[in-house]
Amino acid sequence: MKVLVLGAGAREHAIAKRLHDEGARVVGAPGNAGMGQCGEIRDVDLKNVASMVDLSKKEEVELVVVGPEAPLALGVADALREQSIAVFGPTQRAAQLESSKAFAKEFMKRHRVPTAPFCVFTQPEEAEAYVRQADRPLVIKADGLAAGKGVVVADDTAQALEAIDQLMRKRAFGDAGQSVVVEERLVGPEVSFHVISDGESFLPLAPAQDHKRALDGDRGPNTGGMGAYSPPPMVTQEIEQFILSQVVEPTIRGMASEGTPLSGALFVGLMLTDAGPRVLEYNVRFGDPECEVMLARLDNPLLPLLLAAAQGRLDATSVSYRAPAAMCVVLASEGYPGPYETGVPIRGLDSAAKLDGTEVFHAGTRREQAECVTAGGRVLAVTSVGENVDAAGERAYQAVEHIEFQGKSFRRDIGWQARTRQHSSKLARSEP
Ligand SMILES: Nc1ncnc2c1ncn2[C@@H]1O[C@H](COP(=O)(O)OP(=O)(O)O)[C@@H](O)[C@H]1O
Ligand SMILES: [Mg+2]
Repeated sequence: MKVLVLGAGAREHAIAKRLHDEGARVVGAPGNAGMGQCGEIRDVDLKNVASMVDLSKKEEVELVVVGPEAPLALGVADALREQSIAVFGPTQRAAQLESSKAFAKEFMKRHRVPTAPFCVFTQPEEAEAYVRQADRPLVIKADGLAAGKGVVVADDTAQALEAIDQLMRKRAFGDAGQSVVVEERLVGPEVSFHVISDGESFLPLAPAQDHKRALDGDRGPNTGGMGAYSPPPMVTQEIEQFILSQVVEPTIRGMASEGTPLSGALFVGLMLTDAGPRVLEYNVRFGDPECEVMLARLDNPLLPLLLAAAQGRLDATSVSYRAPAAMCVVLASEGYPGPYETGVPIRGLDSAAKLDGTEVFHAGTRREQAECVTAGGRVLAVTSVGENVDAAGERAYQAVEHIEFQGKSFRRDIGWQARTRQHSSKLARSEP
């Protein structure tokens, strides 16, 4: 079977590698150096639906797997389905769960999915008036896609007002700030919960936790994600059951009942508060680097799962695991998430990949003659499995030592919450 994987990150390399290992012929677009080792690389414009459809037709692929959110928000899945090409990823309307935070919050309210209390504003004056009279800490969120930069967790009223000015008046993220969600600030550890769905049934994957901040101790600016591990110990069986029954189930059912069934991946970002789990946001694709650790643990062949989800005939109800735990450590360019250099030669990839239980997925890399060089902020995602999170981490950090490039930056504390077990695991008794 010939499969097109759209995207250029470590998430897409992990998917492409797995499908290749399972015998699929993989085309990666626009891809990276790693994806080039498990298939053909083609050029494509991820901002242009016609470009993605044309490529799919030209390559005569039987399945398209959409990695990132932007093409889904543009409606690439709708356009592919119109051409009778199977696609793993939701329609444009279903993708609103991610592309509009206001839509997601109103949806949660309609379906009683536990989330922080909120208001939506389209006028800056009204948002400001609300913030001034509020007597509790708030979070200001741009409605639209803002590459993970449209959320301000405000420490005080001044910061909240500044955020409204930036998003709504100065339009720091363009139309994404046409409306904003203002919601109550919650406290607790964050976890990522994914399911694969065909629009009606769903298949839960292993819970994971990522690390968004650039520096150790969860300090520094937000990034695309500096590492992840699975399973996070704070997600007890009880909490997982709560998430499945109170969040995932009503979400999948609610989307179907509103005539916008969500097929593909549903990624729920949750905060485990003292009052129980609360949804921070939905994404409609796999998280990166969560995808890397989830796939490392997953025993089921991936291709049949993705295909069944794409074709509306998912019948498996649970997955099996080949590893009890996994950890992914992201190696970034010096300066990321700010400006950084590219074209820096990378050494030691082969010796790192030879280590037991370890795979090195490429993010921002490209081939330059015989050399692999850096081509992005996040460069590599070093992923290892183990008997537990500590063992997986030990392997991953060993592999990190094998890889060298000038300016190699990474966090040394991925999985710290699993080691110190500083977590609250209380469950809501009844209503959110
Ligand atoms: N209600 C909230 N209370 C506390 N922190 C929040 C809240 N909502 C979001 N955050 C923080 O902001 C981050 C980004 O918010 P999120 O809704 O996930 O948007 P995005 O990923 O699109 O930037 C979250 O990972 C979390 O750390
Ligand atoms: Mg998020």
